[in-house]
Amino acid sequence: MDCAVAMNLEAAAMPESQEPLLEVCDLSLRRGQAVVLDGVNLALHPGETLGLIGESGAGKSTLALALIGLLRAPEVQLAGSMRFRGTELTRLREADYRRLRGNKIGLIFQDATAALNPCFTVGEQIAEPLKRHLGLSKWDRRERAAELMHSVGIPEPRLRLDAYPHELSGGMQQRVMIAIALACNPELLLADEPTSALDVTIQAQIMELILDRVRALNSSAIFVLHDLALGAQVCDRIAVMYAGQIVEEGPSDRVLASPLHPYTRGLKSCVVELGSRTLVPIPGQVPPLNAMPAGCRFAPRCPKAKAICGEQRPQAEIRDGRQVACWFID
Ligand SMILES: Nc1ncnc2c1ncn2[C@@H]1O[C@H](COP(=O)(O)OP(=O)(O)O)[C@@H](O)[C@H]1O
Ligand SMILES: [Mg+2]
Repeated sequence: MDCAVAMNLEAAAMPESQEPLLEVCDLSLRRGQAVVLDGVNLALHPGETLGLIGESGAGKSTLALALIGLLRAPEVQLAGSMRFRGTELTRLREADYRRLRGNKIGLIFQDATAALNPCFTVGEQIAEPLKRHLGLSKWDRRERAAELMHSVGIPEPRLRLDAYPHELSGGMQQRVMIAIALACNPELLLADEPTSALDVTIQAQIMELILDRVRALNSSAIFVLHDLALGAQVCDRIAVMYAGQIVEEGPSDRVLASPLHPYTRGLKSCVVELGSRTLVPIPGQVPPLNAMPAGCRFAPRCPKAKAICGEQRPQAEIRDGRQVACWFID
């Protein structure tokens, strides 16, 4: 699908024709010969939340890291376009990226223990973006860090400002990372599996907290998740990724209620069957990066595949207000 189709999709989704905050057009990312992202199209409007759903290895983290400028040449080769508030990110200089990252674009990783620096107190780490991007004085930074800790539900924040990460529980560390990501009121938050390293008992709490803060700031957010039902429940839109391609993207309720792509349907039946306690996984596995089929990457596992599917890549089409890349949508 080209950008004209992406724009049609936007127009269908947003009749008031508001400018998208983030617009990804035909983005591809290669690591040497391996095409890790292939022709990704996305548009996110101010205040919208998008769930990026897919199995492990689909390329979700790669897309998030590329968006935030942490995967760049020469490590990888990028083609296509990513525009944030109209600024082309693929050509942005590192110095300009540094001004965006942690400021206009916040990032929450899966594992706070790995992301936080063990040598600095949590107060110092929350204060760092406040110094770098907002130039707040030392006193103001400490005040604001305590406020942020309070806003993410850390009890007695003033006492905990001087704690080191290892002195906090996993859930509290994740709250610290959320505070850091939101410190400068980002317009876009990228949250890469923000709760999957946590105990099941607190996953819902943390998810609710992030959503609550995103709404309070009126920010847009991309949540990388591997659970279609959770994504549809918490996000306005869903993008389903398979082997580096977005196979279906659209409003959550429609994607969940009547998935059009066979892969989305497979994911949905996993959810339904899980609910009834019998797991029916999609047979087969994601092809390795060095042996991707020439046509549709899902063809080898697809119950509906015909000859053309293995030979030619289906272009994304607009159907029922979403983009779907499949030769046999109906
Ligand atoms: N540092 C790396 N070097 C080489 N290949 C990588 C690296 N990181 C990820 N990959 C490969 O890129 C693909 C996408 O990975 P990733 O973006 O981590 O997927 P996801 O987040 O959806 O699980 C996978 O095939 C993975 O093996
Ligand atoms: Mg990942």
